[in-house]
Amino acid sequence: MRKSFLMLAVFLVIVSAYSAAAYANDSSAGLAADSYTKDSITLSWNDVHNGVYSIYMNSEGSNEYELYLQTSESECTVSNLEAGRVYSFRLYYGESCEEISAAALPERVRTVTAENIFSKKMKLTWNCTGRCSGYEVQYSLSREFKDYRKTDTSSKKAVLTGLKYDCRYYIRVRAYTEAGGVRYFGSWSPVKSFKYHAWYKKAGRTYVDGHLIVNKTFSLPSSYAPGITNNTKAAWEAMKKAAAADGINLYISSGYRSYGTQKSLYGSYKSMYGRSTADVFSARPGHSEHQSGLALDLNIVKDWFAGTKEAKWLSRNCWKYGFVIRYPEGKSYNTGYKYEPWHVRYVGKTLAEKLYNGGKWLSMEEYYGITSRYR
Ligand code: DAL
Ligand code: ZN
Repeated sequence: MRKSFLMLAVFLVIVSAYSAAAYANDSSAGLAADSYTKDSITLSWNDVHNGVYSIYMNSEGSNEYELYLQTSESECTVSNLEAGRVYSFRLYYGESCEEISAAALPERVRTVTAENIFSKKMKLTWNCTGRCSGYEVQYSLSREFKDYRKTDTSSKKAVLTGLKYDCRYYIRVRAYTEAGGVRYFGSWSPVKSFKYHAWYKKAGRTYVDGHLIVNKTFSLPSSYAPGITNNTKAAWEAMKKAAAADGINLYISSGYRSYGTQKSLYGSYKSMYGRSTADVFSARPGHSEHQSGLALDLNIVKDWFAGTKEAKWLSRNCWKYGFVIRYPEGKSYNTGYKYEPWHVRYVGKTLAEKLYNGGKWLSMEEYYGITSRYR
């Protein structure tokens, strides 16, 4: 009795193992989506069924499965699909059915543009036709995208924050469609690079990368009256001393000018020469760098100063002390003013060296890509 019971148990174990194997064999075609393009998905499976396989498909948003193909092969490429659309497939064979979802790859993202005016953020926009579930943006300080950061967005725009100012960022964007928890990515956009500058307004004043901007476009409130700033004063003293050691005598002809002083100065030039001529060499009230407490007119405020040894020394050395020639020669189009070899502006040594540019002075307008025009 006990013996036959044991035999029965052994028999049952064998039968169930056998049928499990048979069942597994019958349902392990392992339908997979192997490769994708913008308009096709290639399906494959193991040939476990001695007969015909039927492929049915359904596209996003529809409940109907339609017969796409009957085949005895174990692979099929479904084509003429729509980029970025999700498709579900069913493979029927014998009593079995397997299902898989996948997406045709989205279109490539194009024309990525950046804007960062008046913002501590960089705003990106781009174009992409066709469907997708979202976009992945990668940005990096390296052209090779080492140590990149990324952000996902569902619209054709993104806002990047926490960027380092005065740095060049490399940016690429790709669309993706999500299906069954998997992301199907379109091609990367061409890599674009943008120099990031931090823009912000504070109490009516405009700053780029922490530097106060005063020109024909960007003005100061009439109430802004800082006097000569401490940094400017200290840099001036260091420069004057270094110049003296080189046998160059520098002195201040005009330093800080209040809004009121500039108003009467510009007013008298305007009545003498007319507005358009005055605008070439004198700033309207609220638009003079002298009101910022960062600008100094040194020695002789006349065009012929340019040829003197003092002007030459200034142009070659002022950057070492954090000053720039604010209205360089040949840059009137950018600065809005004619060449002023006597007008220096304190910006700090880091930016001054960049604007010195190995002896080919750049204006702040060029460097930051800003205008200087009365509105
Ligand atoms: N001469 C410069 C432009 C000023 O008036 O501020
Ligand atoms: Zn000046």
